[in-house]
Amino acid sequence: MDERIVVTRAVPEPALELLRAAGEVRVCEQDRPLTPDELRAAVAGAHGIVAMVHDRIDAEVVRAAGPGLRVVANVAVGYDNIDVPAVTGAGAVVTNTPGVLTDATADLAMGLLLMATRRLGEGERLLRARQPWNFHLGFMLGTGLRDKTLGIVGLGGIGQAVARRARAFGMRIAYTGRNRVDERIAAELDARYLPMDELLRTSDVVSLHCPLTERTRHLVDAAALAAMKPSAVLINTARGPVVDERALATALREGTIAAAGLDVFENEPEVEPGLLELDNVVVVPHLGSATTETRTAMAELAARNVAAVLGGGEPVTPVGG
Ligand code: GLV
Ligand code: GLV
Repeated sequence: MDERIVVTRAVPEPALELLRAAGEVRVCEQDRPLTPDELRAAVAGAHGIVAMVHDRIDAEVVRAAGPGLRVVANVAVGYDNIDVPAVTGAGAVVTNTPGVLTDATADLAMGLLLMATRRLGEGERLLRARQPWNFHLGFMLGTGLRDKTLGIVGLGGIGQAVARRARAFGMRIAYTGRNRVDERIAAELDARYLPMDELLRTSDVVSLHCPLTERTRHLVDAAALAAMKPSAVLINTARGPVVDERALATALREGTIAAAGLDVFENEPEVEPGLLELDNVVVVPHLGSATTETRTAMAELAARNVAAVLGGGEPVTPVGG
């Protein structure tokens, strides 16, 4: 067995076991993402690469891997970090990890939604600052969710899971995106399709669940924010660059919209400093899929993809048709 598998960052043991059964495994054990130079050096001679969300797998990385490369398995559902044509053009396949992180990410979106609408981060900061406070009827009021409209941008697996949760909180569902969902799902969620501009204009909460593509980069820019209600809340658990982060900081400061809950950022791990000064934004460090169960399942699915391809079979979850 001389298939060489390079894993760019530590993965849970069950995934490693699957990989070890499929080839000779080298795990990069540094405690940060590889630099582009390190990444190119690490993948030299690899037949399989297990990549993390911040590894840019571009044409140079594919070239550095060499002609033996057969599979790049991204441990993420999003694969905007991978130049898919460059990989497939070299005769290798790209796989991702759909499905296994849907619930965890939808849970996190609801968490941010509740934090932002009920001012939970602000309340926590108040107590931790040991500020005086007392209960009164006007104290730290947020907004309720019942009968409010949740506008979902991208009603795929995660968007639908968020819609189901939001329905349990009494919210109405609207959605936009490249594709309409099938009738059965639209009926189950009582989800109304709206063009983007109308969704922005009419939603109380806008939650992003689209992939990052050239079409969605800065989809939420200053003009989109200006179209939203002054009372609106923006939730982003998709990809940072879908939102113009500086425009968002300005909009939140000036009251163009009311609040935001963000799990992802334009230049991770950096966060636009203007955002961190504001009380009406909740920020967490890309935790969408961060449960023990989910991260293990993601790594296992990536490993099963590598094992399938290197074993001469079909990938389990290929991307890009
Ligand atoms: C994580 O961000 C993912 O795309 O799975
Ligand atoms: C508030 O604490 C209440 O009991 O309603």
